[in-house]
Amino acid sequence: MTYTFPKDFLWGGATAANQFEGAYNIDGKGLSVQDVTPQGGIPAKPGDRNPLITEVPTEDNLKLEGIDFYHRYKEDIALFAEMGFKVFRLSIAWSRIFPNGDELEPNEAGLAFYDKVFDELDKYGIEPLVTLSHYETPLHLTRKYNGWASRDLIGFYERYVRTVFTRYKDKVKYWLTFNEVNSVLHAPFMSGGIETPVEELSKQDLYQAVHHELVASALATKVAHEINPDFMIGCMVIAMPAYPMSAHPLDQLAVRDFENQNYLFSDIHARGKYPNYIKRFFKENDIEIDFAEGDAELLAEHTVDFISFSYYMSVAQAHNPEAYETGKGNILGGISNPFLEASEWGWQIDPVGLRLVLNDFYDRYQLPLFIVENGLGAKDVLVDGPDGPTVEDDYRIDYLQKHLVQVGEALQDGVELLGYTTWGCIDLVSASTAQLSKRYGFIYVDRNDDGTGTLARYKKKSFNWYKEVIATDGASLYK
Ligand code: BG6
Repeated sequence: MTYTFPKDFLWGGATAANQFEGAYNIDGKGLSVQDVTPQGGIPAKPGDRNPLITEVPTEDNLKLEGIDFYHRYKEDIALFAEMGFKVFRLSIAWSRIFPNGDELEPNEAGLAFYDKVFDELDKYGIEPLVTLSHYETPLHLTRKYNGWASRDLIGFYERYVRTVFTRYKDKVKYWLTFNEVNSVLHAPFMSGGIETPVEELSKQDLYQAVHHELVASALATKVAHEINPDFMIGCMVIAMPAYPMSAHPLDQLAVRDFENQNYLFSDIHARGKYPNYIKRFFKENDIEIDFAEGDAELLAEHTVDFISFSYYMSVAQAHNPEAYETGKGNILGGISNPFLEASEWGWQIDPVGLRLVLNDFYDRYQLPLFIVENGLGAKDVLVDGPDGPTVEDDYRIDYLQKHLVQVGEALQDGVELLGYTTWGCIDLVSASTAQLSKRYGFIYVDRNDDGTGTLARYKKKSFNWYKEVIATDGASLYK
């Protein structure tokens, strides 16, 4: 049965500065953690527990040039507008605004760049959705303070967000405080700028770092609403539903333990306090969070306006995981589900899981939701088409179509959803593996894993498909 999405539904695409801007050292930009992880932000090969971290940027790091959005933003935004985007998610690179992170005055050239981008979006009536920190902590904050392990980061982050909230108060309405904030438990360097190797990082220090980010997020929400009461501030988490491998009650308990590790973050953001289940976990692991004066009040009084999340895949869990094959995942993962197919990178494809996640979040919080990442990373082949080079990416269309139909189901279930942005609407560098060949876009970018390529942009088959989906308010999904 055909369903029409609400008229004001925000259709669009999503990106992150470090994965597509390039210009890593232009106009006063400082280095970020991404500039020293040429192989991606999670362990490069099996057996490693930490990503490869170089002392200084190295030439093999594709993120340094990205896809050069910094110089091509007009062309790219025109293509997004042609598809009919209502919203475009991007991040502000913190190190463009505060190159080291701890200086007192911002870098004007960095601020001016985002002014130009927001003005260009405005020309087409595209609403920006801005992530304040998307895996791009200034490197200096990592090397000098050990990132979010230090409470000092709260003050530096506050100065940064205050600066951008003030500067763009009439240009941006929707903000996300930290990308996939729950990922810090699994990728402390990429996500939290914490350089202590994983095997040496104590649970105490890790959860204290989590606390610093949560307090910083609440503080940002407070400052944002003071600067512009109409701002909509969201948290952003990795959503990954888990299924029990069997009907064994202990498997269901394993599911709950896994999901609670993720709910912890949205629970605190939305309900303003640590949930009881984590108190037991803390006790059993000798973790005692150091609350500074005022932290509890900040968390309680400045909860988020909406919940946003990335959704790529689901997993299975069991009380005896060693009995099963472990699957690959988006930063976190679990057991392979025998009922699901996987992408070339082993992420299991589960459209119905998205409907479940939407219902679970909405039942739990009754806050508006926003799907800010979803999509299929795949290898594309450029072929000649009637209008020039293109990609016949039916596999991507199939993935997105099935997920969007489930989004439609969730809307009919009564879920309140602000919008949907596909990940990497234009090809960009992968966060986990730093490859360009892991492509998500509607727009192909001519750049290869060895850094060669002209950077020319070509429309894939999915470009026109998504354009029609947006133009028909989703009705064409049911053809
Ligand atoms: C999310 C991140 O984890 O997934 C993005 O927020 C990332 O930065 C995306 O790019 C897809 O993951 P990957 O590893 O395929 O780039």
